[in-house]
Amino acid sequence: MGDVAVESNAAISEAVAELNMDSKPSVQDPTENPTPNVAEDDDEEDFVDPWTVKTTSARGIDKAKLIERFGSSKIDQPLLEKLEAVTGKKCHRFLRRGLFFSHRDFNWILSRYEKEEPFYLYTGRGPSSDSMHVGHLIPFVMTKWLQDMFDVPLVIQLTDDEKSLWKGLSRKEAMKLARENTKDIIACGFDVDKTFIFSDYQYMGQRPEFYGNIIDIQRCVTFNQVKGIFGFGDSDCIGKIAFPAVQAAPAVASSFPDTFGENKSVPCLIPCAIDQDPYFRMTRDVAPRVGFPKPALLHSTFFPALQGAQCKMSASDETSSIFLTDTAKKIKTKINKYAFSGGQATVEEHREIGGNCDVDIAYQYLTFFLEDDEELEQVRQDYTSGKLLTGELKAKLIGLLQEIVADHQKLRAEVTEDVIDEFMRPRKLKSRFETKK
Ligand code: TYM
Repeated sequence: MGDVAVESNAAISEAVAELNMDSKPSVQDPTENPTPNVAEDDDEEDFVDPWTVKTTSARGIDKAKLIERFGSSKIDQPLLEKLEAVTGKKCHRFLRRGLFFSHRDFNWILSRYEKEEPFYLYTGRGPSSDSMHVGHLIPFVMTKWLQDMFDVPLVIQLTDDEKSLWKGLSRKEAMKLARENTKDIIACGFDVDKTFIFSDYQYMGQRPEFYGNIIDIQRCVTFNQVKGIFGFGDSDCIGKIAFPAVQAAPAVASSFPDTFGENKSVPCLIPCAIDQDPYFRMTRDVAPRVGFPKPALLHSTFFPALQGAQCKMSASDETSSIFLTDTAKKIKTKINKYAFSGGQATVEEHREIGGNCDVDIAYQYLTFFLEDDEELEQVRQDYTSGKLLTGELKAKLIGLLQEIVADHQKLRAEVTEDVIDEFMRPRKLKSRFETKK
């Protein structure tokens, strides 16, 4: 995520008006709101788009406000109960703890599952560096769980072309990073029989159906609309302006003819952090005109930077996060040195006043990675009361992350070139449902 120029409010309002005019009413979600991500007239509000996530609050983004602004829906208790009822399994901790907090049409996907109607999963990664940080794992861990629960095909897009456009990477370099990142993705445990991982550069030339869908989408979106949604300006290169259709096209089943043939009617479910939503608001808007169902979405919040939720976590800043390549020693040093603490200045004060879990990064990281709900609740109570000290809390996180990262590195080391080739080979994916027409 990098910085992006934001157009004036007038240009945005114009674009939104045009978008609304063009939009057919959504059957699946009548409350859909194609409003851009800009906090109009209020500099203090969070800013979230695919390149920039900014909040002034140490507690992180305001989830309720974002749901309202984006026009998505809250993942509430009845929805989680429905998920547990249809799968017969307890919800993943990301869902139990509200880390995945927003959705579009997930109800509808669950109803399809109940009725044995097909759908598939779609997610992705923009390969900008060879080491991913632990935050990047979040959507992939969720997606792996969903694949296990639903037993459906999964497509994973590596937008190496996006990184040439935004970061100036050569095609060769971007494709190399895509392959490196593929190792990390495979190490998350995806089932090769049900998973296709593809690089845009590579796949574009392999299946004309994919490029055909991109063109169909591009024909339905004007420059004015992408300006409004993404904040592109007159000096942005035309590649950026056309790119959103490339990220939209995997939401059309027929982009994967080996699995779906010419069938465009199979919908997908997209797990991602909420920064990617602008792409899919656009996708949902054009879907009826291109003749495919609107993709459903599950949105997560952001895994914060070590320095706190207001700071940017960046692959180019070593100290901003824990990377999947970090050694045990590095993990320890980084957490001890940089993890923002919600504790008090002295032990005496801490014992008396207690710590603040809402802003404490070690505690926040545990909410993502500690599986046991009771243990997490005990940590929260003990830290809040002052019984648990910052050093003790950090030690708990260090041990857990050292274990997770070491396990990941071991699995990644087992991913051979042949295994990568197999995941990236266009082929028919297995599914519990019949998908081809
Ligand atoms: P990228 O590479 O920026 O991010 C990959 C995925 O990780 C999520 N993410 C995070 N999740 C939690 N905490 C964080 N701090 C954090 N940072 C990033 C992103 O939301 C994303 O889900 N253009 C996309 C690649 C892409 C894609 C997709 C992503 C192509 N098709 C479909 C999601 C779904 C990108 O550059 O992601």
